[in-house]
Order: sequence, then structure tokens, then C-alpha cells
Amino acid sequence: MMHAEASAILDQLVPALRQAQHVVVLTGAGISAESGLPTFRDPMTGLWAKYRPEELGTPQAFRQNPRLVWEWFAWRRELVQAASPNPAHQALVAWEQYVPQVTIVTQNVDGLHQYAGSSRVIELHGNLRRFKCFEDNQPVTEWPTTDDIPPHCPRCGGLVRPDVVWFGERLPEQALHDALAASKQADLFFSIGTSGTVEPAASLPYRALDRGATVVLSNLEVPNRATPPLYYLNGQAGILLPELLQRAWPASKAHKTITNHDA
Ligand code: APR
Repeated sequence: MMHAEASAILDQLVPALRQAQHVVVLTGAGISAESGLPTFRDPMTGLWAKYRPEELGTPQAFRQNPRLVWEWFAWRRELVQAASPNPAHQALVAWEQYVPQVTIVTQNVDGLHQYAGSSRVIELHGNLRRFKCFEDNQPVTEWPTTDDIPPHCPRCGGLVRPDVVWFGERLPEQALHDALAASKQADLFFSIGTSGTVEPAASLPYRALDRGATVVLSNLEVPNRATPPLYYLNGQAGILLPELLQRAWPASKAHKTITNHDA
């Protein structure tokens, strides 16, 4: 159910969305929560309950215990492979039918925006289904079958690691450049399902605000508050985004679900 205050804010956003030329949507783990993927603030479960992501997702942890870190990512990869895009991902795909330019800037490594069908997705933190060499950062697409965990790079024998950005690592330069350029160009900017605690992504909404964009910050913690051009919107992405789509373009239909299994 939607809170009356959230509903009133959605009404205020309808004209901005209808008129927008370039909408940028920054997403975080919360947009995939309704696909069954845990966020980083959720305590880890099962085998991994005694660890925190900040302990496992670092180059130091990989150096110390590569097998443990590899297996954590293997577990996360399995969860992602079993997950499907949810109505929030699908609503963003549908926006492309009406808004001249929609750019998704995601901190997620699950690839669900692409599976849903979004056409312009900038991945700030990489993708856990890609791999690279721990020694020289070159992409690794295959390796000889052995029992080694992690496997070894076929070129140099270094360890293979997931192609994601770990704590303390720099973001891919091109992705960061493109995300910043899009944010400065946006006339409407949404931050969806991110706690806004990890830089530089956390600053992107403010870069957009500086350039005159309407900015909407939405997760499960913010209050509902309209202080145009900045709006805070509390609620589940899988309810709010399809509802906004429906109100802006009543005849619209979000795209049919495409599951990972079709890929
Ligand atoms: N709809 C909308 N928002 C949600 C939902 C939902 N269904 N479920 C959870 N949220 C919100 C929470 O309220 C929280 O603000 O999603 C946010 C999740 O926050 P984090 O777990 O901190 O995820 P994120 O912001 O993506 O983390 C940033 O930190 O650990 C690193 O590299 C990792 O990319 C990650 C980065």
C-alpha cells in the first residue's frame, strides 16, 4: 500500500516526467531487493552470516584468502542467476517509450537492468558475471578446467577475480566520466534504492541539482518531503516506479518480464 504523502509526491512528479528530455536514474541494491537479492545493509544469511561485505569485498581479503572471497562471489552469482527483473526495472524500460533519453547509472553488479531491457546502462561497480586478472586487470573470459579455486589466468597464471569494484578500489574511468556527464545533463534525476553512502555515486544527484535538474531521492529510509526541485520519496521501488509510469502515461504497460534463464 502506498502512503498518501508518497502518492501526493508522485502526482507532483508527473509533469516533470512527462516533459523531461533526459532522465537519469541512479540505482542501488534496493532496486533489486524485490527480485530477492539482499542489499548490503541486510545482514548476510546462512554460511555467510558471520561476515560483512566490507570484509570480503576488498583486494586485501582476496590476497589473504582468495578462495573465501571467490566463493562468496560464486554464491552471489548463483543468487543473481536465479533472479529476474522486477516491476521497478520494467517500469524504467517502459519510460524509454516516452522520454527521449533515459540513462541508468547503476551501482549494482547483477545485470538486471540489461536483462529487463534498458538500453543505456552505465555500470559503476562492474558486473559479477564478468572476470578479470587480479595481476593486470585484463578481462578473462575463459580458463582451463582445473580444481583450482579461484582459477588461474590463462595468459599470466595470476588469479582470476570478479570484474567488480571492491572497497577501496577506483571506479572504471569511462563509466564514471559518462555517469557524471549524464548527471550534469539530466533535467530529471532519480536516485532509487541506494543508501547514498558510497562515493562517488552518492554525489551524482547533487551534481544534477547544481545544474538545475529536478531530483528525487527514494529508498525505504527517507521521509516523504517535497522541497522542489528536491523531492524525498519513501517506498518500494517496485510499487512507486510502475505507479509513476501509470500516472504519467495511463495507457502504458511495463515490458513483460524477461528472466535470466532466457539469456
Ligand atoms: N525499494 C526501494 N528501496 C529499497 C528497497 C525497495 N524494495 N529495499 C531496500 N531499499 C533501500 C534501502 O532503504 C537502502 O537505502 O535500498 C538501499 C540499500 O542500500 P545499500 O545496501 O547501502 O546499497 P547501495 O546503496 O547500493 O550500496 C552502495 O555499497 O557495499 C557497497 O559496492 C556496494 O554498490 C554497493 C554500494
